[in-house]
Amino acid sequence: MILLDGKTTSQQIKEEIKETVSKMKSHGEKVPHLAAVLVGNDGASLTYVGSKVRSCEYVGFDSTLIRLDENISEEALLEQIDTLNKDNALDGYIVQLPLPKHINEEKILLAIDPKKDVDGFHPANFGRMALELDAFIPATPYGIMQLLERYNVPTSGKHCVVVGRSHIVGRPISILMSQKGAAGNATVTVAHSRTENLADLTRQADIIVMALGIPEYLTADMVKEGAAIIDVGITRVEDDKHPKGYVIKGDVAYDEVAQKASYITPVPGGVGPMTIAMLLKNTLLARQWNK
Ligand code: GUN
Repeated sequence: MILLDGKTTSQQIKEEIKETVSKMKSHGEKVPHLAAVLVGNDGASLTYVGSKVRSCEYVGFDSTLIRLDENISEEALLEQIDTLNKDNALDGYIVQLPLPKHINEEKILLAIDPKKDVDGFHPANFGRMALELDAFIPATPYGIMQLLERYNVPTSGKHCVVVGRSHIVGRPISILMSQKGAAGNATVTVAHSRTENLADLTRQADIIVMALGIPEYLTADMVKEGAAIIDVGITRVEDDKHPKGYVIKGDVAYDEVAQKASYITPVPGGVGPMTIAMLLKNTLLARQWNK
């Protein structure tokens, strides 16, 4: 069994980006600049955004954190978006989700200039991705494609079962893996909460992408010997024995499934760390495309 190590791979990608930025600097070019908008004080969001900003500093990007009050109106947030769209110093920006309930998330995401949408959440980017045009690919599916490619996991002609149809993970990864190119050419089945006989499908799969959000859902009896397993789940499960009071669980019953798998991503340390690396990659692409 080969561990698909997202911690090491994401570090490699960051080093590659750092090297490119260093060359840009030595040629007197402007370095990429990412801004992150954080509304309110949600603990997990603060952690994620803090980590994104620190990663920018690590690779030599400029970064700006814009913190807004929890009670900001939708109109005022849209004005902020308009300012960011017009700011020529910025190559890309993200609006950290989830937003407070009184704000329509879809309306905000639609207001982001697709050329600066380094999260790849705007329909223009989703459509471009589906049509195999240059696009910002959402960080999680982009990270999965990088892991498959860099570890040479066989995908061409293989049957991949994606469990989950979210706009950010399940749906885009199903499109990417069926396309031509590296980590592509797979025959993809998209399964979801209404799928009947899920285990019959997963048992036929050469590759399983679990993006359901139910801890340890995929058990060894649902997996074919030698399958490659990608676990996108990150659920906090209460655990009094742990100092934090919780542990992070994936969608895969790791210990038993790992015994049958040819490749597997751990949780934590698999897909998770790849997402920040791919956000940085998208910001670098934004700089290069907007030049
Ligand atoms: N919240 C959880 N994941 C993400 C992400 O990838 N981007 C944004 N903007 N918010 C998130």
